[in-house]
Amino acid sequence: MTTTLITGANKGLGFETARRLVAAGHTVYVGSRDPERGRRAAERLGARFVHLDVTDDASVQAAVKTVEAEGGLDVLINNAGIEVRGENNGIPAAADTTADELRTVFETNVFGVVRVTHAFLPLLQRSPAPVVVNVSSGLGSLTRLSDPDSPAHFYQAIAYPTSKTAVNMITVQYAKAFPDMRINAVEPGFTSTDLNGRTGTQTVEQGAEIIVRMAQIGPDGPTGGYVDVEGPIPW
Ligand SMILES: NC(=O)c1ccc[n+]([C@@H]2O[C@H](COP(=O)([O-])OP(=O)(O)OC[C@H]3O[C@@H](n4cnc5c(N)ncnc54)[C@H](OP(=O)(O)O)[C@@H]3O)[C@@H](O)[C@H]2O)c1
Repeated sequence: MTTTLITGANKGLGFETARRLVAAGHTVYVGSRDPERGRRAAERLGARFVHLDVTDDASVQAAVKTVEAEGGLDVLINNAGIEVRGENNGIPAAADTTADELRTVFETNVFGVVRVTHAFLPLLQRSPAPVVVNVSSGLGSLTRLSDPDSPAHFYQAIAYPTSKTAVNMITVQYAKAFPDMRINAVEPGFTSTDLNGRTGTQTVEQGAEIIVRMAQIGPDGPTGGYVDVEGPIPW
């Protein structure tokens, strides 16, 4: 039996990933910073709820204790994330970005990934086939955002893409440090969720596909990669 924890699983891509992995037979923990939203989601999914705010050490430590007491962890999906949007859901200009804004986004998207991964490492190391999926974004690709011919080139904000570039490097470094784990970064694609004011062009079913796939890779699967549903993408 595989036990999987998904951060920020009360809605959006995390919720859909939970739905699919429950159907695949995983014991799934729906991590949610809001107990009410998390419990409701877990009930709907036939999953377990664990209170987990990725920006809060105490909440992450408590989540580790709960999951440990109930049997341990095989798969960690670092999915919780935020994006700062401006007026009318606009993408903020580089010139308007402040250090505080960057700090807020990094607290969840970057420090949150390290806080949660670091805390759950001892549990993952006890699993016979540990897997980590870091939900990055194509917007974290230095290659794409610097290429005038890339569809992602138009995106001018600083906070969100730099946070996902950091997630990519975190993935590379953890993958090297833990060769017995499968640790990959994934790009779900532009998906209609609250994150982007529902402007995304894909459904959550389409977006969750690569997360679900990389959550289910076996011990001989790839590690240290950055992939979307079609395969590796440029860093
Ligand atoms: N949608 C896209 O087009 C797209 C594309 C590429 C990558 N992604 C990535 O996919 C992931 C999921 O995003 P989504 O599109 O599904 O967005 P979403 O619907 O807004 O869901 C984000 C989830 O993260 C949770 N969250 C935010 N801050 C948290 C915190 N401090 N602690 C715990 N949970 C927290 C939210 O909880 P609350 O309900 O409490 O706010 C929510 O459950 C993110 O990492 C995002 O960057 C999305």
